[in-house]
Amino acid sequence: MTQTIFIKLPSFDISGQVALVTGASSGIGEHFAQVLAAAGAKVAIAARRADRLAELARAIEAGGGECLPVACDVTDRPSIVAAVAAVEARLGKLSILVNNAGVVVSKPLFEHTEEDWDYVVDTNLKGAWMMAREFAHHLVALKRPGRIINISSILASRTIGRVPAYCAAKAGLSHLTGVLAIELARYGILVNALAPGYIETDFNRAFFQTDSGKSLINRIPLKRIGQAPDLAGALLFLASPASAYVTGATISVDGGHGVAAI
Ligand SMILES: NC(=O)c1ccc[n+]([C@@H]2O[C@H](COP(=O)([O-])OP(=O)(O)OC[C@H]3O[C@@H](n4cnc5c(N)ncnc54)[C@H](OP(=O)(O)O)[C@@H]3O)[C@@H](O)[C@H]2O)c1
Repeated sequence: MTQTIFIKLPSFDISGQVALVTGASSGIGEHFAQVLAAAGAKVAIAARRADRLAELARAIEAGGGECLPVACDVTDRPSIVAAVAAVEARLGKLSILVNNAGVVVSKPLFEHTEEDWDYVVDTNLKGAWMMAREFAHHLVALKRPGRIINISSILASRTIGRVPAYCAAKAGLSHLTGVLAIELARYGILVNALAPGYIETDFNRAFFQTDSGKSLINRIPLKRIGQAPDLAGALLFLASPASAYVTGATISVDGGHGVAAI
């Protein structure tokens, strides 16, 4: 005798939601914008290079998506305020923020300048905080729930040389995720971090062609560098009703690199 089991499966449906992705002019952010659009969300794409955003917006619209390019510098508060207002005015009810904009400076410690430090920390940490604060302030005023997904890094918990500001900023971002989760839970705004391992983008492509890059790949338990699509499942989980009871978490997507002892 066959039996049918009735069970409510989790919903990954984000169609009709409005998402804002920072750092969407290249790499991971560009891919995230395409994934969210393919899942039916209206997507605002933000970064400083307006020409790259216009190109991506054309590609998303050609594929049937709805996309708004917004020139925005996450280190500049007025630019953030204007971006959030523009998204709400042009795309409607903003409810998902992907805090993805990031930069890295790789130099030996004694060559690292204060300017290098400020550039990296202001973009990766202060910029993400200002963006999250403006987004949350906007949603709370409108009594609307939402999602904040901070793009952290394997380097929030592991360390390597030459990138002190980047490691400190990403560790700060993971910790900030917890604080924001606690403060915003009462408003129905869930805040989580996605911590990628090494993902092939403009950030690092040249390095992975070198001997040290190849030896690093060999130390990843799954024996390959990640690709942006490897992150899409975790992104959709954190953006969708499937993660309704998840806040303050950091989800690692790193081929096992974060737990490897070598
Ligand atoms: N690739 C990896 O292996 C890896 C691993 C872990 C975490 N991550 C994180 O993933 C995120 C994306 O990295 P990626 O590899 O895709 O690098 P990427 O291709 O260099 O992209 C970085 C993005 O950030 C934007 N950006 C930089 N400064 C900005 C600012 N002040 N205001 C607005 N946008 C700004 C850039 O756009 P404009 O220059 O046009 O402004 C660009 O779109 C970063 O947060 C990075 O730390 C990457």
